[in-house]
Amino acid sequence: MLRGPRRLLWVSVRPAAALAAALLPSLVRCSILEPRDPVASVLSPYFGTKTRYEDVNPGLLSGPQAPWRDPELLEGACTPVQLVALIRHGTRYPTAKQIRKLRQLHALLQARGPGDDGVGSASSRDLGAALADWPLWYADWMDGQLVEKGRQDMRQLALRLASLFPSLFSPENYGRLQLITSSKHRCVDSGAAFLQGLWQHYHPGLPPPDVEDMECGPPKINDKLMRFFDHCEKFLAEVERNATALYHVEAFKTGPEMQNILQKVASTLKVPVNDLNAGLSQFLLQSSSSLVMQRPFFHCFLSWATSKTRNL
Ligand SMILES: *[C@@H]1O[C@H](CO)[C@@H](O)[C@H](O)[C@H]1NC(C)=O
Repeated sequence: MLRGPRRLLWVSVRPAAALAAALLPSLVRCSILEPRDPVASVLSPYFGTKTRYEDVNPGLLSGPQAPWRDPELLEGACTPVQLVALIRHGTRYPTAKQIRKLRQLHALLQARGPGDDGVGSASSRDLGAALADWPLWYADWMDGQLVEKGRQDMRQLALRLASLFPSLFSPENYGRLQLITSSKHRCVDSGAAFLQGLWQHYHPGLPPPDVEDMECGPPKINDKLMRFFDHCEKFLAEVERNATALYHVEAFKTGPEMQNILQKVASTLKVPVNDLNAGLSQFLLQSSSSLVMQRPFFHCFLSWATSKTRNL
């Protein structure tokens, strides 16, 4: 709980005479999504730090490597001297724990009694039945690993940043680039993919070598920094293990809004509300967003759950 920011990469490019200017113009803007991308929905832009880049900035669908920036930023008068980017890992599989809960939910849907409301009749639009029929293909080994789309996310991000800040990503500065990552495989792999994207920028057309052999070296692992929520004593004592600090989290999990959502989910899926125990229901609401980009099962179900949340 309360471990929101699982970011992983600390990228720093620092020319010699640099002070600091952290600029991430294109990554944090909201815009309404066109329904062109079949994986996206109108809800896709609303997953906070887990929103796909292309859902925040639909322009990326047609030009994923093209730089994009707010025209009001960096108008002539401003010279970028340093770029510090805190980057979330790319698209990944669900974790083993999430897969376990998905199977639980899937089994629950498959075990529903038929006939409650004419399942099988061509006209019934039964979401629960559709989800029960959907082949749940996640395997244990997938356990939160980066998928190919995730590597592509990182390569394209690197290329966009390099094109946006050509003076920072000049060949002379290449050796000054620093990447710091957490030890999570998806984060280490994201770092490697980012560097491979940069390689394309510096050496167009040449296949990238192993990151170990790159001039700037592989991303450095630093869990104390990147997974502070496991290491920072002050955070652990004052927040993570502090019931008072987490009061509102608990209140939300057990409060009337959550109960209301549970009721609605249970009634739409036609399962007893008690079967959607707290753990499972929270899972539905929390874990959706990073997976939403992956597969229709999540997308469909969790978009629905989220839309209900938003309508409260
Ligand atoms: C626990 O959290 C509360 C509320 O944020 C705070 O006032 C209190 O100092 C924290 N307790 C500890 C031991 O840090």
